Amino acid sequence: MTPAPSTILACRLNGRAHQALVADNLLLLDYLRDALGLTGTKRGCDGGECGACTVLIDSRPRLACLTRARECAGHHVETIEGLAAGGRMSRLQRAFHERLGAQCGYCTPGMVMAAEALLRRDPNPDEAAIRTALAGNICRCTGYVKIIEAVRDAAQPAP
Ligand code: FES
Ligand code: FES
Repeated sequence: MTPAPSTILACRLNGRAHQALVADNLLLLDYLRDALGLTGTKRGCDGGECGACTVLIDSRPRLACLTRARECAGHHVETIEGLAAGGRMSRLQRAFHERLGAQCGYCTPGMVMAAEALLRRDPNPDEAAIRTALAGNICRCTGYVKIIEAVRDAAQPAP
């Protein structure tokens, strides 16, 4: 059988240089979860509808289920695993924890990454901006109020 065409993927992944040979048709979601063991990025709908697979590429939210791994060449890919520095939760992650923004937690990595992208481009967003930024992320548990409160908490300047 002829092997699938492959490409050398050279990028940054969670702040570190990363290089690998990847099949041209390999989805970023499959690459992260199955090849690299970065299972924080979740598979929900697998069709661009739920936001569970949201990662950052050059600080912008992208759906890993709709992105081929090879498209990341030359870019910086960040997953939820990259947000906690030295094993310590980021301010945003802690806000989700303290505000009970996660219940079953399945949507949480995607929510956090979408919110992280927002806070990088707008450090103090109002509620409307938060709702807009998270509009593509579906949660079946929380009713969204706690999630929005968590992002607002993280947006406020540290005391
Ligand atoms: S798994 Fe990617 S949007 Fe649902
Ligand atoms: S916390 Fe369960 S889907 Fe959002």
